Amino acid sequence: MKRDFVQILVCPRCGGRFALADGEPADEIESGMLLCEGGHTFPIIGGIPRFVESELYVQNFGFEWNVHARTQLDGASSDESEQAFRAKTGFTPEMLSGKRVLDVGCGMGRYTDVASRWGATVVGIDLSRAVEAAQRNVGRRPNVHIAQANIFDLPFQDETFDFIFSLGVLHHTPNTKAAFDRLPKLLLPNGKIAIWLYSNYERWRPSELYRRVTPRLPKRLLHTLTYVAVPLYYVNRIPVLGRVSYYLLPVSRHPKPEWRVLDTFDWYSPKYQWKHTYEEVLPWFEQQGLTDIRVLDTPVAVQGTKK
Ligand SMILES: C[S@@+](CC[C@H](N)C(=O)[O-])C[C@H]1O[C@@H](n2cnc3c(N)ncnc32)[C@H](O)[C@@H]1O
Ligand SMILES: [Zn+2]
Repeated sequence: MKRDFVQILVCPRCGGRFALADGEPADEIESGMLLCEGGHTFPIIGGIPRFVESELYVQNFGFEWNVHARTQLDGASSDESEQAFRAKTGFTPEMLSGKRVLDVGCGMGRYTDVASRWGATVVGIDLSRAVEAAQRNVGRRPNVHIAQANIFDLPFQDETFDFIFSLGVLHHTPNTKAAFDRLPKLLLPNGKIAIWLYSNYERWRPSELYRRVTPRLPKRLLHTLTYVAVPLYYVNRIPVLGRVSYYLLPVSRHPKPEWRVLDTFDWYSPKYQWKHTYEEVLPWFEQQGLTDIRVLDTPVAVQGTKK
């Protein structure tokens, strides 16, 4: 954790400011303690301030993002995450450069990576141990801060960020709208927020039936089972037979085998996985007083601006 991160953190219990107790003199603090004015303490472990004591209902993501820590990270051979980021937020490098940005539910940090490459100062938070992968991937960059925190108990003051995004996250909480409602107040005036949620436009699929069981399976077992997505890719491409097999056992059809395994695990492992429509989500933005509400054509992706 970088020392100057303390300047934008506040205690999630009492709103008090923090001082560093037992901190190392170095600019990167590996271990130590945050002590608030009200006497609450939070540990810094592995270079990450920890505002939660457990992963609650997201142990699957802690597992997933540490096993697949770099699968979806852009590199010399792929800019797929950057493309997805543009499509799902409507944000551009010109908008984000030099701004303070919050990545809500950062996972292993693939979108924190994009926004920080675009020149933003990015804070990535996640409830799960995925933050450890994010810290390894991007946390040492001078313009990145990572924290383990819950959307429902965030350690930030109102009006802290120029931009907030949350991609593929809010529908994995117990209540998508309640999670969304925590975010707009953190925006500065004229700040923008963009979210992307699973859509409810697809017809019912048998995976909903399997999902009654799969989130409860041991994670390693489920992960091993999702390797079926590797060969099924070829079966799913056979005319007629492929349609039947995909209908009966939906798995990721991503061309890269490792992404297929990851995406399939990501679909079948979460405890909560709500689906939404634009008709449902647009009023959430209006109720929060957001304006310039933009519908992006990657359902369900919406951007709004705080006045
Ligand atoms: C499908 S992953 C998406 C990660 C990242 N946004 C991406 O697209 O690569 C969903 C993430 O949301 C996080 N998450 C779920 N509920 C959360 C909460 N209440 N507070 C913070 N993070 C949460 C999970 O731990 C998980 O890493
Ligand atoms: Zn406190």
